[in-house]
Amino acid sequence: MRTYLVTGGAGFIGSNYIHYMFRKYGDDIRIINLDVLTYAGNPENLKDLEGNDNYIFVKADITDKEAVSKIFEEYDIDRVVHFAAESHVDRSIKDPEAFIKTNVYGTGVMLSCAKAAWELPEGPDPLGNYKPDKKFLHVSTDEVYGSLPEGEGYFYETTPYSPHSPYSASKAGSDMLVKAYMDTYHFPANITNCSNNYGPYQFPEKLIPLIINNALHGKKLPVYGDGKNVRDWLYVEDHAKAIDMVQEKGKLFETYNVGGHNEKQNIEIIKIILNTLNEMLPDGDERKAHINEGLITYVEDRKGHDRRYAIAPDKIKKEIGWEPETRFEEGIKLTIKWYFEHEDWMSNVVNGDYMKYYENMYGKKEKA
Ligand code: NAD
Ligand code: TYD
Repeated sequence: MRTYLVTGGAGFIGSNYIHYMFRKYGDDIRIINLDVLTYAGNPENLKDLEGNDNYIFVKADITDKEAVSKIFEEYDIDRVVHFAAESHVDRSIKDPEAFIKTNVYGTGVMLSCAKAAWELPEGPDPLGNYKPDKKFLHVSTDEVYGSLPEGEGYFYETTPYSPHSPYSASKAGSDMLVKAYMDTYHFPANITNCSNNYGPYQFPEKLIPLIINNALHGKKLPVYGDGKNVRDWLYVEDHAKAIDMVQEKGKLFETYNVGGHNEKQNIEIIKIILNTLNEMLPDGDERKAHINEGLITYVEDRKGHDRRYAIAPDKIKKEIGWEPETRFEEGIKLTIKWYFEHEDWMSNVVNGDYMKYYENMYGKKEKA
């Protein structure tokens, strides 16, 4: 049985990935989920796995080398899938240090512990020899490439890094460490750089769940700047599939860009959500009375706001055969349906701490 060490598996993408992997491989795999449970980590995301003997949760911090080493000593790990990170750009603008610690130093700890556990003392390769079939996948973002002009160009794997926010700079730093391990020690790894994800279990500090939740409650929909910044949206299950395919079919030491071929301005996303909510709510639902464009509120722009992200996923398609499968029109319906069916999840998440964050973030931002 293959054993996976997933970091950050209680977060948005990690929990979707764990569900995807158990759906795909069933009892043929065992997953150890290493997560410290920050505000973004939610054990509820995986509560349906309680009682599954092939799922093990370890509450620990990736910056705690002793705790991470202990996991590698206790279990014969075959695959590491490294999601754990501070992931929200706005928070990184307010508190960059947490991002540097977890994203850069924490990735350094993961690499060092995996290398120590997998390294063989001798072998033919002067740079490094490893136990067979061990692989580390570092999950990263397209934001490391910086910002594209409107309507022109794409991010390729060869695009030079040019991060602007403390979040993307810390992710770029973590990518560079993985590259350094591959180049210096022939450490068996891959990197994926993915575009913006959306889907079930996403924390409502990010655009799509925030807009769904606010619209349902008749709250204002905050649009940064002119609302014309472009993101390339990918349904989260397609990302989970890409990660698995890269690890099993990709060439070691390679980077793969993962993207949705789905560029949209933020204001377009908000209007699609409003229309879809109205379409999906049953006739006579009282919330329909307030779900309209009157809720849209332009607020002060994000500092250093990247204008456009757009991935060219040509390499992953050509070498591995991965393509986005879920069209946005379908993915947004699946996402809204999930939030309708999990109102408790949302109300548990939107607790006192979230309200404090929300007040601090949006309280003073509204434009006159
Ligand atoms: P998330 O914020 O929802 O989840 C992060 C998880 O990591 C949480 O469960 C949190 O508790 C855990 N974590 C944070 N610090 C930790 C630490 N020090 N030790 C152990 N666990 C820790 O993030 P997400 O949106 O699921 O993103 C997952 C990964 O994918 C990140 O590396 C992110 O950079 C990358 N990524 C995200 C997107 C996106 O659109 N969300 C797109 C591309 C890449
Ligand atoms: P976000 O979901 O934070 O992802 P990222 O910054 O990693 O791309 O934001 C997506 C886009 O939506 C980004 O251009 C910022 C914008 N945005 C708003 O206009 N209003 C909001 O309240 C939020 C959270 C984001």
